[in-house]
Amino acid sequence: MEKLVIKGGNQLKGALRISSSKNAAMPLMAATLLASGVTTLRNIPRLRDIATLSHVLRIAGAGVSLEDHTMQVDTTRISFPEAPYELVKKMRASFYMLGALVGRCGQARVSLPGGCAWGPRPVNLHLEGMKALGAAIDLEDGYVVATTPKSGLPGGSIRLEPSSVGATINILLAAATARGTSRIENAAIEPDVLIFCKMLQAMGARLQGVGTRTLEVEGVPALRTVTFSNCPDRIELGTFMIAAAIAGRPGEPVRLTHANPDHLGNDFLEAFERTGAGYRILESEVVVTPPEMLRPVSITTGVYPRFPTDLQAQWTVLLTQCPGQSTVQDTVYGDRFNHIPELARMGVEATVRGDTVAVQGGLTLRGAHVMSTDLRASVSLVLAGMVAHGTTHIGRIYHLDRGYERLEEKLSGCGIDIVRVQYDEFAAPAVG
Ligand code: EPZ
Repeated sequence: MEKLVIKGGNQLKGALRISSSKNAAMPLMAATLLASGVTTLRNIPRLRDIATLSHVLRIAGAGVSLEDHTMQVDTTRISFPEAPYELVKKMRASFYMLGALVGRCGQARVSLPGGCAWGPRPVNLHLEGMKALGAAIDLEDGYVVATTPKSGLPGGSIRLEPSSVGATINILLAAATARGTSRIENAAIEPDVLIFCKMLQAMGARLQGVGTRTLEVEGVPALRTVTFSNCPDRIELGTFMIAAAIAGRPGEPVRLTHANPDHLGNDFLEAFERTGAGYRILESEVVVTPPEMLRPVSITTGVYPRFPTDLQAQWTVLLTQCPGQSTVQDTVYGDRFNHIPELARMGVEATVRGDTVAVQGGLTLRGAHVMSTDLRASVSLVLAGMVAHGTTHIGRIYHLDRGYERLEEKLSGCGIDIVRVQYDEFAAPAVG
């Protein structure tokens, strides 16, 4: 296995390039199934989750290649409308195959994802959405089996409560090639959904209301292949803004290039500014100037454009660097706090009550052996390691590799002492 070893206390300086978005790339990859032929996707990050979804597409019969961040998906022959448990359990976004295969083949057999690292994460809205469009849904041996009438999927309406990124995408995948018109109310408007909608439109989908909470799609018999470009990763941008604020030299700007700050939403940008960390936006660059002293700013996560749940673990680490008490409340995933016991090993004082963590800021963090539990929890440990006294060893970083491209290379290129090393997690400690 691999771990990251970080010697804390070095300052982050220079420029970091933001990679392309993981969570936007995955629905774009699923959408390729709706057209027969070769689709080209530009700016696809090299990540474990992308490799997993490529594998899922190949099982269905697609040819997938990724070179220099350009992906080509050949969907000429889609012969096996199935997504197996072995892959779906590794990565929930494989569940996009449900809508994509229904849209392409009129049938799908996709493993139910089960729980995730921090809680149940239901898919009831995905299934209700398929039923509302006119698909029959059965559960067989842990698999969702979707079938559609011989004459095609009729289409229909659904209101999502709560608004869901994944359900909006899955329902659109199935509805774009339905016989009739479909409507989604309280649809997600996260940037990842928007870029996906734009790709569907470029492929010929008759989709109205993009960017609003009501989407209407009039089905067409098939979509056409396109060449389409993905957007920058907003969560990586937020993560690096936090890294710059806590680990940069006060007054010395850190540049984050190839970014799209609009995708972060107002809540994050306002909260960031209130900490005293300055930022300027120069076209596709965000320049962060760390302050002498950060101010504590409590946050509450919500759906876009509110504060992203995918940045709350990192924000918790920022709050440890501010004097005073503050809170992080997650209303999207009220139990996404697996990072707290690991951070506690480094001296963080934080108490979880319900969906809220109370953080005591201003304490000195100390390096320790800690373990990644999920993607964003892992990166919060990296941030903590950067500001801790001493050395931090972060185990099980396969979680981190799901969503951060070349993280240690990027950070070490900007002054952070961080290396990736092999280790044996089950080795017995030395005696004496
Ligand atoms: C997406 O997950 C992201 N994943 C998550 O990113 C992110 O945390 C989440 O959106 C929220 O922004 C991808 O894009 C691949 P949801 P998704 O459906 O689509 C409830 C990361 O670290 N809900 O928008 O699964 C759900 O429990 C991650 O990159 C239902 O009740 O999230 C939650 O409270 C992990 N029933 C809320 O909706 C459903 O059927 C929003 O979840 C579906 C969701």
